[in-house]
Amino acid sequence: MHKKPKEKEALEALLKVSKKVSSSLELEKVSDMILYQAKSVLCTDHSALFLLDEESKHLFLIGAKGFADNQIKNLAVLGSWEGINVELIKKSKPIIVNDIQRSAKFKHAEIPFLHKKLPIGAFLAVPLKTDSKIIGALLVSNHKKRRRDFTEDDKKLLSTLANNVSIALLNAKLHNNLKSLFMNTVTSLVTAVDAKDPYTHGHSERVARYAVRIGVEMNLSKDFLEDLRLSGLMHDIGKIGIKDNILSKDKALNKKELKEIREHPTIGLRIVDSVISSKVVLSGIAEHHEYYNGKGYPKRLKGKHISMEGRIIAVADAFDTLTTDRPYQKAYSAKEAALEISRSSRSQFDPHVVKAFQKTFSKNPNIWQFK
Ligand SMILES: [Fe+2]
Repeated sequence: MHKKPKEKEALEALLKVSKKVSSSLELEKVSDMILYQAKSVLCTDHSALFLLDEESKHLFLIGAKGFADNQIKNLAVLGSWEGINVELIKKSKPIIVNDIQRSAKFKHAEIPFLHKKLPIGAFLAVPLKTDSKIIGALLVSNHKKRRRDFTEDDKKLLSTLANNVSIALLNAKLHNNLKSLFMNTVTSLVTAVDAKDPYTHGHSERVARYAVRIGVEMNLSKDFLEDLRLSGLMHDIGKIGIKDNILSKDKALNKKELKEIREHPTIGLRIVDSVISSKVVLSGIAEHHEYYNGKGYPKRLKGKHISMEGRIIAVADAFDTLTTDRPYQKAYSAKEAALEISRSSRSQFDPHVVKAFQKTFSKNPNIWQFK
């Protein structure tokens, strides 16, 4: 397979990072668990978790429990206040403030802000450390109406909890960084693929979006939807191995060219197979051109032998192809394309997937209209 150097580089980067990404650790899940534990172990009204930004040395909020949505943005401000940062980060010491109104930890102007914008009466915050390196802070607080003060025992308890969860949080943070690095690599690869065909600009991104909309309508799990999105994004990645003159040909393809282009799901699977373990991502790439009646390619799979992800991406892919201008065919309107999809229900597409597509399409046809 011939590849341009830039694409090859991107593939190598993809290879390097994605193995580490298959771990199930996620920052959101880990921080949720910590927040829940802190709040329930210390029986407090609220909990909040901050991570330290290495460059600015400020604490930024990554999650909170017990606060109303409009209070959370005020809580985020707390992480940049000097009084809190000096104790927690510079001195690496826990803080107990039982009377915010009289505390010397805050600047004069900060107290009215705290009093009005946050329902906190007392709080306890401890640094999160791994091998003496501070990575963030964990805060618990009680409502000003409840007036329950924090004690030295509370401080010990929260510090123990913080010690136990710091490593998990650090791993999740690193995993999150890797994940965004991985997503950047995938996005640049996909852009390279889409750029090979002048008519498919933005195609992969749209297919991913449409597939997820259908998946949401089918009540599929959050994890499945995440992989479905990735699969939709990468469904045509195998086109990286197809000659440019075939992809950009503005006339009908001959038999030999058709045979070559039909290899892209298999090439795509080969590229991604060694680096991604998710079955959903792999089958979506390999099976998005299979037909429900068994007349698709590359394996002529039939009905439920085609994976759910393959059947969903097939509909999303067809909808975007129909609504895009082609050299030999003017784009259909979204409504015409939706009708066309229904006509091919049972032959090309799974009727259940078509039903879900029609349902979500009819709820808001306008959002399918714009590219
Ligand atoms: Fe394709």
